[in-house]
Amino acid sequence: MIKDELKKLLGDNFEEKIDHPTVEKFGDFAIRGEVKIRENKDLIEKIEKIAGFTNIFINKNKLINEAEKIGGGEWQKEIENVGKGKTMVIDYSAPNIAKTFGIGHLRSTNIGQAIYNIYQFLGWKCLGDNHLGDWGTQFGKLIVAIKKWGSKSVEEMSIEDLENLYVKFHEEAEKETTLEDEAREWFSKLEEKDKEATEIWQKCIDISLNEFDRIYELLGVKIDYAYGESFYLDKMPAVIKLMEDKGILKESEGAKIVEFKRMPPAMVIKSNGTTTYFLRDMATVKYRMETWNPDLIIYEIGADQELHCRQIFETSKMLGWTPQFYNVAHGMIRWTEGKFSTRKGQTIHLSEVIERAMSEARKIAPNNDEGKIKAVAIGAIKFNDLKQDPKKDIIFDWKKVMSMEGNSGPYLQYTYARCLSVLNKSSIFNLQSSIKNTEFNYSEDEEMALLREFYKFEEKIIEAAERFSPAVVAEYLIGLARKYNEFYAKFRIIGENEEEQRLFLTERTAKILKIGLDLLGIKTVEKM
Ligand code: ARG
Repeated sequence: MIKDELKKLLGDNFEEKIDHPTVEKFGDFAIRGEVKIRENKDLIEKIEKIAGFTNIFINKNKLINEAEKIGGGEWQKEIENVGKGKTMVIDYSAPNIAKTFGIGHLRSTNIGQAIYNIYQFLGWKCLGDNHLGDWGTQFGKLIVAIKKWGSKSVEEMSIEDLENLYVKFHEEAEKETTLEDEAREWFSKLEEKDKEATEIWQKCIDISLNEFDRIYELLGVKIDYAYGESFYLDKMPAVIKLMEDKGILKESEGAKIVEFKRMPPAMVIKSNGTTTYFLRDMATVKYRMETWNPDLIIYEIGADQELHCRQIFETSKMLGWTPQFYNVAHGMIRWTEGKFSTRKGQTIHLSEVIERAMSEARKIAPNNDEGKIKAVAIGAIKFNDLKQDPKKDIIFDWKKVMSMEGNSGPYLQYTYARCLSVLNKSSIFNLQSSIKNTEFNYSEDEEMALLREFYKFEEKIIEAAERFSPAVVAEYLIGLARKYNEFYAKFRIIGENEEEQRLFLTERTAKILKIGLDLLGIKTVEKM
């Protein structure tokens, strides 16, 4: 990696924040201050000291060589060294049984999968776990509602039916206070493995998983494990014991809690003896530590559960588990138009979003088969989740999501297809034959701008992992596509003297877009 080579030349003068200037005339790297740097003609073309900065220009042949390596075996090996021997667990997606797959879970799924892909690409051993919400007091409520108001047998119900019954429970419970007690009783029964309760619960699971599997299939997402909260039922007593042994379990008004210095306490066991979401999460950490002994555990959960996560992390420390913990804490989605705009976002039906995206995709990519339309539609939705720092709220604006010019999935897919069409038109282009790249002279600004972009790809993948932000890759791809399109708009390629060297730029752009979009979980299409 060029940055690493530079690091060696700079020795003690290297700072981590060494930057790529945004203005091209300031070179490829800029370092604050007037630093000494050892000479190396193969790497550095020139060094300029301007306005308190040392600007470094990378040798053109070096840029070409580096570009050539991208995607090859040696490059891959170098990149896999980054995470070699390290293990991470990522907790993502995690929809709730008997509730429709919400937009928050969509964000978690898309961002979580991209983070997983990026870490795996960097050579980490990755374990994805879908911590399904399949246990908790809500099942007591659901059972009460099914028994009282269900108009058909459970197995015939859809996930919407179940959700509606759950909503009805809350409406009725406002008028009839005894309903809450009944629900608590049913959840107790479920925790004691009562036959009737367990049967109803199991049916709800089957209905929901059916629906979730359909969504994962549509999104092209596969999660390694889906242990879900109920998996930890028999593992909770051991954590309680551990908490007692460490002396951190406190009595409080009949309930059991863990207290913290700078946070409100976390409830471990409720006063009626039932277990909690928090307790199951602690059993989950224990299981993951004992099963995989990870160096890093990432939670891809919304910002609304930030406190919950901090409580898990803090308690883990008290219990002696010290991997690196991180919660992505993604922001909310807001809608600019339509019937979704006034809702909170949790109950938006994903299938409606996908249908709308499909119909938009048909408009921008007509004459395509359904498979490609789907790739464009899903790509657009995913890119919208990935294009900016996950912590920020996102605005869902259909015009921007599907824009062919803007910061969007279709724009990247379109640029990729454009590159392929250029390559296909050329009669001299042959990927196998090695091109004598070092004879390329690249005298045009737009050519150089592209050439100076390629080698940064590797840095960006690493930075995306360090910052837990696939947006670093997404933004880079957008920048690359823009530079390619500027170049494409200005120059002819086929039949020109520079055909070969311009094909090289085209092919490298396509290669990076392909790898990059793969990392983001977005499919490419060959024609659009
Ligand atoms: N099912 C939860 C929800 O929808 C998210 C679970 C996140 N993961 C965890 N380990 N708590 O709110």
